[in-house]
Amino acid sequence: MFHHISVLATEIIEGLQVHPNGCYLDATWGGGGHSELILQAAPDVKLVGIDRDQQAIDAARERLAAYGDRVSFWQGNYADYQPTQKFDGIIADLGVSSVHLDVADRGFSFRSEAPLDMRMDTSQELTAAEIVNYWKEKDIADVIFRYGEERLSRQIAKRIVENRPINTTTALAEIISGAVPKAYRYGRIHPATRTFQGLRIAVNNELGSLEKFLAISPNWLAPNGRIGIISFHSLEDRMVKHTWRETAGLTVLTKKPIIAQEAEVKLNPRARSAKLRWVAAKNL
Ligand SMILES: C[S@@+](CC[C@H](N)C(=O)[O-])C[C@H]1O[C@@H](n2cnc3c(N)ncnc32)[C@H](O)[C@@H]1O
Repeated sequence: MFHHISVLATEIIEGLQVHPNGCYLDATWGGGGHSELILQAAPDVKLVGIDRDQQAIDAARERLAAYGDRVSFWQGNYADYQPTQKFDGIIADLGVSSVHLDVADRGFSFRSEAPLDMRMDTSQELTAAEIVNYWKEKDIADVIFRYGEERLSRQIAKRIVENRPINTTTALAEIISGAVPKAYRYGRIHPATRTFQGLRIAVNNELGSLEKFLAISPNWLAPNGRIGIISFHSLEDRMVKHTWRETAGLTVLTKKPIIAQEAEVKLNPRARSAKLRWVAAKNL
């Protein structure tokens, strides 16, 4: 039911330097793919998994049931987590999982008709429908421009407001297609891709959560512990790079981000935009 191919799996395990009896935190559990590799990498490893999404938590718990009490979990935003122990390593593989995109009724994808939802945590109030149907045109344009990096944000936001109410993913995608020039409509990516990305990031406050996580997670590290973060767009990658460079007590291990090998990209096109960076806690 939960099919998600873990990206940069070899690079995550190599970089974490998993050791026997070590304790690791997977802040974005998803399907539990990276977590399972961590548990297999050395004997008696312990792991805590976090995810905002109940479906992800259920799937990862089932997948990792054989590891018994070596695995524990916490459902919520990684930015709100309050650990009771230190970790030898922490990983975060940002963004959505394939399940979010594949399960139509979650409303993340414009490829199948669904209500405009896009919440990772379905108990939160803000949905994409709320933004699209109730926010001011200027605020919608800002979301599309900032988080979607869409240069046609203003004309898309104008068309959205003119066509309210908009109830489904496919209706929104059609309205966006109608708002952009013809050449843009037949480009490399669907004209709604960037707008959908912008809405998703806003609905889930993804950059706000990442900012908080970058600030607090170094405090969760044991001496010499490491944090690895995989990001999928430049806004996140830039935030990771700059924050770590300026955080006292951390040594940056990757001047340039680690990216996927051609062979991985061939098998999993999602890996094309993945960027992995590492830091280590200075041994003070
Ligand atoms: C790309 S998937 C992780 C896949 C996982 N590494 C694997 O190998 O199966 C990202 C997951 O992180 C979760 N997520 C994203 N932002 C989060 C946040 N701020 N707090 C907790 N979970 C988050 C999403 O719900 C999603 O399940």
